[in-house]
Amino acid sequence: MRDGQISLRLLDWYDTAARDMPWRVGPAARAAGQRPDPYRTWLSEVMLQQTTVAAVKAYFTRFTALWPSVADLAAAADGDVMAEWAGLGYYARARNLLACARAVMRDHAGVFPGTVEGLLTLPGIGPYTAAAIAAIAFDQPAVVVDGNVERVMARLYAVQTPLPRAKPDLIAHAARNTPSHRPGDYAQAVMDLGATICTPRNPACGFCPLLGLCAAQTQGIAAELPRKLAKPEKPTRAGRVWVARRPDGAILLERRPERGLLGGMLAFPGDAWDGATAGAPFDADWQAVGEVRHTFTHFHLVLQVLTTTATANPNRGEYLHPRPSDLPTLMRKAYDLAFADSSPR
Ligand code: ADE
Repeated sequence: MRDGQISLRLLDWYDTAARDMPWRVGPAARAAGQRPDPYRTWLSEVMLQQTTVAAVKAYFTRFTALWPSVADLAAAADGDVMAEWAGLGYYARARNLLACARAVMRDHAGVFPGTVEGLLTLPGIGPYTAAAIAAIAFDQPAVVVDGNVERVMARLYAVQTPLPRAKPDLIAHAARNTPSHRPGDYAQAVMDLGATICTPRNPACGFCPLLGLCAAQTQGIAAELPRKLAKPEKPTRAGRVWVARRPDGAILLERRPERGLLGGMLAFPGDAWDGATAGAPFDADWQAVGEVRHTFTHFHLVLQVLTTTATANPNRGEYLHPRPSDLPTLMRKAYDLAFADSSPR
């Protein structure tokens, strides 16, 4: 009986505590019959993979202003979409975003499939995203499991097995609790609970609508769960970038290969970051102006930044006039360092 109680209590809580988000149809509007636009649900869920709600809001608002429908996005130029995505990270998401929009137009007459199975056939849509879209946009009782849901389930059932080994158990607990009534609101309610009350550190159990139903809280171990296997330390890699600016303000940039880190994004010519060194893009009196640091999923990177205002024919890249915001964060750090005294912001 406890399982049914969990979703009922969560839905009651969500009715008053749902967070406001630019892509969300809140519980009152949904009860009045409003339905989310699957395009907006999909776009927000792709942006929210690996990224916080706070960071996503402005990007979502800009994307939907520029491209209000999946047809608009599918027709966009690749470079424009990559530039708007700059700063959000995990750039494969942006490449898949375009591929997905184009597949929806080409293979589905511009209409997102309404089932998990149909959604899973689209580029960039994995089990989490497919379930989230099916639940939120189509009110299907799909089992939505992200890091928030894993944490909430681990605590409710005091699961001691560490992640990632605990995943099958946590998915089973999530499935058992997924209701057939209001599954879309329920999915968002669990995620909101995980983000606001059942937080990784210092969970606010005193405010939790599931107080009394939570095994970890009863045992006094909520903050310790979920347990996680220790991750190996990230190695540090080093490289250089060459930042050349012409007197007219144009900057030497190249587009990174589609596959791999920062794939499809603009970058200063540089080393490969795997120890392989590249030469400068042309001979000049390059000045070292300092280092920038950035952490990727599997390593830390320290990049030495070299600059010149000399002009010569480069052996790679082309001179462009980017907006600083068109650059991925690592290159933006190098840009800011290179032009700390002189850049037009
Ligand atoms: N995190 C990812 N997707 C979310 C959603 N739809 N609601 C709340 N938090 C989320």
